[in-house]
Amino acid sequence: MARKPFIAGNWKMNMTADSGKELIAQLKPLVKEAKCNVALCVPAILIPAMVKAAKGSKIKIGAQNVHWAASGAYTGEISCEQLKEYGVKYAIIGHSERRQYFGETDEGVNKRTLAALANDITPIVCVGETLEERENGETEKVLTKQLTDGLNGVEDITKVVIAYEPVWAIGTGKTATDEQAQETIAFIRKKLAKLFDTKSAKKVIIQYGGSMNAKNCKGLMAQPDIDGGLIGGASLKIDFATIVNFDK
Ligand code: 13P
Repeated sequence: MARKPFIAGNWKMNMTADSGKELIAQLKPLVKEAKCNVALCVPAILIPAMVKAAKGSKIKIGAQNVHWAASGAYTGEISCEQLKEYGVKYAIIGHSERRQYFGETDEGVNKRTLAALANDITPIVCVGETLEERENGETEKVLTKQLTDGLNGVEDITKVVIAYEPVWAIGTGKTATDEQAQETIAFIRKKLAKLFDTKSAKKVIIQYGGSMNAKNCKGLMAQPDIDGGLIGGASLKIDFATIVNFDK
């Protein structure tokens, strides 16, 4: 069975209720005919308003993180139950900015991923190497650790979305070439086949993320193992619709 492409935006710490509503209103008619799954992962405080704004459209609203505990003394965190109350279907987990600036570890990624799965929230688990790691030839080693530890104990890997985001390509305007992204994502799929099984690995949606935009999306999406994109900067603009319609 062919994998259904999945284009997701990551607004990061951008937008307000007003600008978000305006953008979603503009995007709605433009993504109507899209054949892929579409999501926007928005700042937690905007979730209720954006769910309302996106109602009746192809755009599903996702979160940018989720905590593993059901409730409790975890100041600043948000539970699966709280997200589900608003119909949130996706949560980004282990984004490199969380790893880099907020001390997120593979163990934390693992706990968050298992909690999301147990609550029918699709985790978008981010993996990727830094420039230094790539230059030292450590890309495969880094990805292997992130995948092995981050996905430990996952029963059905087909319920997880993986986003390969090379840290050096995020927000830098320096995209991985089509070949680089394909090669690394093919490696990730091979690794998933080893950690889980080949049949399941073939079904996993693997996105590319890192300066993906309206211009370079076609080439990336044409690669056999790339099933979608996790879009930062370009998801804050009407360009996001062009990416969603990459096949037109
Ligand atoms: P940019 O598209 O802005 O490079 O961000 C990518 C990203 O980090 C998406 O999660």
